[in-house]
Amino acid sequence: MKFFIDTANIDEITEAGSLGILDGVTTNPSLMAKEGISGEENIIKHYETICNIVDGHVSAEVIATDMDGMIDEGLKLASIHSQIVVKVPATANGIKAINHLSHKGIKTNCTLVFSTGQAILAAKAGATYVSPFIGRIDDMNYNGMDLIDQMVQVYHNYEFETQILAASIRNTRHIIECAEAGVDVVTSPLKPLKGLLKHPLTDIGLEKFLADHKKAQQ
Ligand code: G3P
Repeated sequence: MKFFIDTANIDEITEAGSLGILDGVTTNPSLMAKEGISGEENIIKHYETICNIVDGHVSAEVIATDMDGMIDEGLKLASIHSQIVVKVPATANGIKAINHLSHKGIKTNCTLVFSTGQAILAAKAGATYVSPFIGRIDDMNYNGMDLIDQMVQVYHNYEFETQILAASIRNTRHIIECAEAGVDVVTSPLKPLKGLLKHPLTDIGLEKFLADHKKAQQ
């Protein structure tokens, strides 16, 4: 199971990287805007910085919505660094662009996926990753994990090579349930990722070990 961090924040990427368990990064236009990154030159520089911090794939999303625009932008993004994966939305033009880019050997991540039908087309188009958005489905009072379970089953049935990259993670439980379902990658904000380590019995146990050790030294 691979862990990606879902942020464009350099401090958070560095902190997650320091744990030694980080396999990649995903960004999107909202996350880039949150960091105040604008203008082609700054965007390119930011992606370069991220690629130099993390030894793994870094998803960079296209802004164009027409097929030719997505392809042009995808080629430019892919030329920034060999670690870049071009993120393309699950629209008809997006599927065509993924097909084109993957035939050129460019890695792609089909994003904004909310149905197994979209996930099947992403795999057929040759996407490297497919990103189902669990949290946003939960936000609509449906169960995002139902989509994950169905996708895992269908991808297994046909031995699709596209990797399931669970996105829109809201909490630590999502990460565990994704692991249970057998997804290939989870991309999470820093907080749920760090939440994996939290257990009150670990804190209580450590406190007692240290207190006992101190007593023995007196
Ligand atoms: O990067 C895409 C996805 O993870 C977005 O998450 O929290 O905006 O639904 P969220």
